[in-house]
Amino acid sequence: FKTPKPYNEPVLTYAPGTTERNALKAALADARSKQLDIPMYIGGEKVYSDKKVALRPPHDHQHILGHFSQGNKDHIKQAIDAALKAKAQWENLAWEQRAAIFLKAAELLAGPYRAKINAATMLGQSKNAYQAEIDSACELIDFLRFNVTYMTEIYSQQVDSAKGIWNRIEQRPLEGFVFALTPFNFTAIAGNLPTSAAMMGNVVVWKPANTQIYAANVIMEVLREAGLPAGVINLVYVSGPDAGDVIFKHPDFAGIHFTGSTEVFQNIWKEIGNNIHLYKTYPRIVGETGGKDFVVVHPSADAKAAAVGLVRGAFEYQGQKCSAASRAYVPKSLWPEIKESMQKDISSFKIGPTEDFENFVNAVIDEKSFDKLAKYIDNAKNDPSVEIIAGGTYDKSKGYFIHPTVIVAKDPKYVTMCEELFGPVLTIYVYEDAKFEETLELVDTTSIYALTGAIFAQDRYAVEQATTKLRNAAGNFYINDKPTGAVVGQQPFGGARGSGTNDKAGSMINLLRWVSPRTIKETF
Ligand code: SER
Repeated sequence: FKTPKPYNEPVLTYAPGTTERNALKAALADARSKQLDIPMYIGGEKVYSDKKVALRPPHDHQHILGHFSQGNKDHIKQAIDAALKAKAQWENLAWEQRAAIFLKAAELLAGPYRAKINAATMLGQSKNAYQAEIDSACELIDFLRFNVTYMTEIYSQQVDSAKGIWNRIEQRPLEGFVFALTPFNFTAIAGNLPTSAAMMGNVVVWKPANTQIYAANVIMEVLREAGLPAGVINLVYVSGPDAGDVIFKHPDFAGIHFTGSTEVFQNIWKEIGNNIHLYKTYPRIVGETGGKDFVVVHPSADAKAAAVGLVRGAFEYQGQKCSAASRAYVPKSLWPEIKESMQKDISSFKIGPTEDFENFVNAVIDEKSFDKLAKYIDNAKNDPSVEIIAGGTYDKSKGYFIHPTVIVAKDPKYVTMCEELFGPVLTIYVYEDAKFEETLELVDTTSIYALTGAIFAQDRYAVEQATTKLRNAAGNFYINDKPTGAVVGQQPFGGARGSGTNDKAGSMINLLRWVSPRTIKETF
C-alpha cells in the first residue's frame, strides 16, 4: 500500500512584515476581543455544563479569555457510551478512509487553521510565536502525516503462506475504548495521543490538561471539519479523580495513552493493576512521564556551541519541555568561557507576554508551578553550597514570570541536580577535567529519569565513551546538539526508567500498541 510521502512541515519565520506574522497578529487580536465558551464534545455534540471555568493567559492572569464547561462523572460515562457506539462503524471503515481524514486534518492545520491554533497555544500556554509554530503547527502536522505512513506500513506487512494455505494477519483495533490523557506543554502531543490511537481504528475518550483546553478545542474543530465521525474522539474536561473512578473501573477500558507526571502515571498503573480482573482484555499502558535531562560537556568540546545548546535546551518555552536540559556537567577548563557566554545570552533575553514577538521568555504555566519554582530558587539563594550566576528573580504580579536561572552546585547530588522542576532553572556541576569517566557515572546514577541527554565533545573517543556509558540514561541522546526539539520522522521520541514506557511518539512502535493482531490460517 502507498499513501502520500510524508514530509516535515516547513517552519515559518514570522519575521516582521511577513504574511504569516500579519495573519497571526490578526488571530491574536481576534482571540483577545472575544469571550470563548468552550464546550465538551461527546458523540459529535457540543456539550455545555453549568460549571464554567475561566481561561486566562499565564502571562496576563487578570485577563479572561473565556470559559470552558467543566464536566462530571456523568459526562465521562456518556463519552464512553458514545465511543463504544461509534466503534463498529469506525473500525469497519476502510483504513484508507480513516487515513484520509487525518491527512486532511494536517492540511487544515498547515493552511486555514495555522494562525488560529498558534494563537491559541500562545495565549493559553504562553508560548512565543516560534515555539507555538514548531509545536502546534509543524509537529502536530508531522505527527498526522508520518503516522499515516506508519499505519500504512503496518497494514502492508504480511506473512508467508504455503501450498493450499493462505496465512494472513489482521491488525484489529483494541477491544474497547482508549483513554488519552494529555499534557499542557505540547499542543502536538495533546493532538497526537488521541489521533494515533484513533487512526488504528480505536475509539477514544480524551481528557486534556485544563491549561491546554483552548488549543485542544481548536484540534477538535479541525478534526470535525476533516470529517471525523461523531463519537470517535470524545473530548471531556473533568477532574483526574472523576475520570479515574469511571474509566479505570470500566470493563471496556482497553488502553491509556498518557503524557504527564511520573507520579500520576504510577498511580494510574497501580489503579489499573488493582482493577485488572474487571477488564475484558489486558489494557495497553503507554506513557511518557518526567525527565531530568542532562548535558555533558567534554574538555574537547566547542565551548560556544555547548553554551548555546545549554541556553536553548534549558530555557526555550521556559524549560517546560519534558526534554529540557536541567542539569549540566561542565569541565573546569571550559567553565569560564561557557559561563560568560551563557550570562551574556541570558541577560539579552526579553521577558514578557507572547503577543509581543520580541519576548523570548514568557510565563510558566500557572501559579502552582510558579510557587514551586520560586521555592527552589529561594532555597538555593539561602544555601551557601550553591551559587546563582544568572536569574534568581521572579514576579507574578501580572503573569507567572520566572527569570531564566542558572545555579552552580558544588555537590553533584544537590536537590536541583536530581529532582524534576519543570521550569527555567538549570543546575550546573563543574567537574575536574581529568574526571570525565567519573562524571559519566554521576550522570547515569543521579536521577530516576532517562528521557533525553546530550554530550558535547570533539574527541571521538569521548563521544563513544559517553554513548556507551549512558546507554540507559536517555531514550533520546544528542551528540553536539541540545537535548530538545525531536523532529517527527527523524528522531522518534521517548525514554525509559522513570520517564515512561518508551513507545516512541511518532513511530511504528507507538502505532503497534493500538492494534491487537489476529493471525488467520485458511486452508483450501
Ligand atoms: N518532543 C519534544 C522535544 O523533543 C518534547 O516532548 O523537545
